[in-house]
Amino acid sequence: MAAEGTGGRARGGARHPPLSALVVSAIAAFSAVLVLVVLHSAYDDALSRTRTLLGHNLEPTPWHPFPHAKGRPPARAALRCAPSLACLPPLSRPRPAAANASSPAKRRQCPAYFAAIHRDLAPWRRRPGGGGGVTRALLDAARRRASMRVTVTGGGRRLHVDLYYACVQSRALLTVWSLLQLMRRYPGRVPDVDLMFDCMDRPAVNRSEHGAAGDPPPPPLFRYCTTRDHFDIPFPDWSFWGWPETNIEPWTQEFASIKLGAGATPWANRVPTAYWKGNPDVASPLRVALLRCNDTATWRAEILRQDWDDEARSGFRHSRLSAQCAHRYKVYAEGFAWSVSLKYILACGSTALLIEPRYQDFFSRGLEPRVSYLPVSAAAEAMCESIRDAVDWGNANPAEAERVGERGQRLMEDLSMAAVYDYMLHLLTEYAGLMDFRPEPPHTAQEACEGSLMCLADDKQRRFMEASAAEPAVDEPCVMPPPPPVEE
Ligand SMILES: *[C@@H]1O[C@H](CO)[C@@H](O)[C@H](O)[C@H]1NC(C)=O
Ligand SMILES: *[C@@H]1O[C@H](CO)[C@@H](O)[C@H](O)[C@H]1NC(C)=O
Ligand SMILES: *[C@@H]1O[C@H](CO)[C@@H](O)[C@H](O)[C@H]1NC(C)=O
Repeated sequence: MAAEGTGGRARGGARHPPLSALVVSAIAAFSAVLVLVVLHSAYDDALSRTRTLLGHNLEPTPWHPFPHAKGRPPARAALRCAPSLACLPPLSRPRPAAANASSPAKRRQCPAYFAAIHRDLAPWRRRPGGGGGVTRALLDAARRRASMRVTVTGGGRRLHVDLYYACVQSRALLTVWSLLQLMRRYPGRVPDVDLMFDCMDRPAVNRSEHGAAGDPPPPPLFRYCTTRDHFDIPFPDWSFWGWPETNIEPWTQEFASIKLGAGATPWANRVPTAYWKGNPDVASPLRVALLRCNDTATWRAEILRQDWDDEARSGFRHSRLSAQCAHRYKVYAEGFAWSVSLKYILACGSTALLIEPRYQDFFSRGLEPRVSYLPVSAAAEAMCESIRDAVDWGNANPAEAERVGERGQRLMEDLSMAAVYDYMLHLLTEYAGLMDFRPEPPHTAQEACEGSLMCLADDKQRRFMEASAAEPAVDEPCVMPPPPPVEE
């Protein structure tokens, strides 16, 4: 362009540019192509180096039915946002005056399952003779298993993420979002922490490999669930802020809609059998065994396959959870690990039949057999009989069975987002109290803030994030149950 323009003027309006000008413009055009090629590969290069919170790493889970995250992260979003994940310096807003800083005695007590925080963190409790605590070395040891390191600094106002591998679907995005919402809900109250988080399903810190007398404490690793045989620290999973890939709304909205749907049919008028609908293809022996119980006459159970691929294509018309409260009994079966479906099942107010769970998430420790659910045998050969017996018992004792369902639903009502944030706050506060070093983001970490996450999100994710945004709390957080006495 430039070459042609100057050539034209110098020649006083000649119709055809001289050969030299043509050569020059050919060279210019060619270099433009070169520049484009170079730019393009720089673009690809930047993409492959750009670690984003949009996941596509599938290795640790054996299934992955959703097209969205199958390829690479949406490229444009990653490139647009990543190099300049600039977060504005946090406003140092004054803390909203606590509505009423009454004495702890008058404040709300946390639900009983908050006591599990003490148990989960017990391996790092400071030891009477010195030692214990979360050290830098332990954190480094946890890194091997972590998908990201999360650092909160600046008096609970800044959040950095160092990403080791991308998580499936929206997990990492919404988990980081959940922490930002916690910071928004409790401005300046989230402690400065440095922690390792893994977003895959199964716990990784095996109890039998750590914790013998005289051993150093196990590596501290946060994830969505644990078991009695593991030291992983459970943290609320992403689905409380929504699960875009299955169209399951943030918990506040989803609970309200399930409760409304459930209200349409009183317990006594519901179908007097057990119901389960889910994805059996998740390498879960429980779910495979459950398929065999699909016989309402013999086992009183209706077991349906949920094909999320089909559902996604048909606009999620047949997977609405609010329309799945038509049975008196609802079966819960763990998947590859814990399943986020537990809270939706309990929300129905149907009598929950839990196939003896092995995995625990942060709130499931508040459930009590025969109080808020009926236990069902996990042994493949006994499962169907066990379901039948529970259903027969319930239909013979309808008032009691209905109460079990009501208590389960009540627990879910109490599991409001306020409780979820309080759990996060208390867990992080107790954990921070055990750290023996000052949190500092590593130089490879990126600051994450609401704007940068919104920029990375696709339209649907963005809608879920907006719908699950927190407001600053007007109440004080609930009061933690006291720690158990220190044993000798
Ligand atoms: C707290 O509540 C008590 C009783 O409701 C009231 O008398 C008091 O003025 C309140 N304090 C503040 C700081 O709002
Ligand atoms: C924990 O480790 C032991 C010994 O290495 C092994 O036998 C056991 O299967 C492991 N448990 C889990 C839950 O991975
Ligand atoms: C269970 O049985 C019903 C009724 O026979 C059938 O429609 C359904 O497909 C069965 N479920 C599975 C998972 O095969």
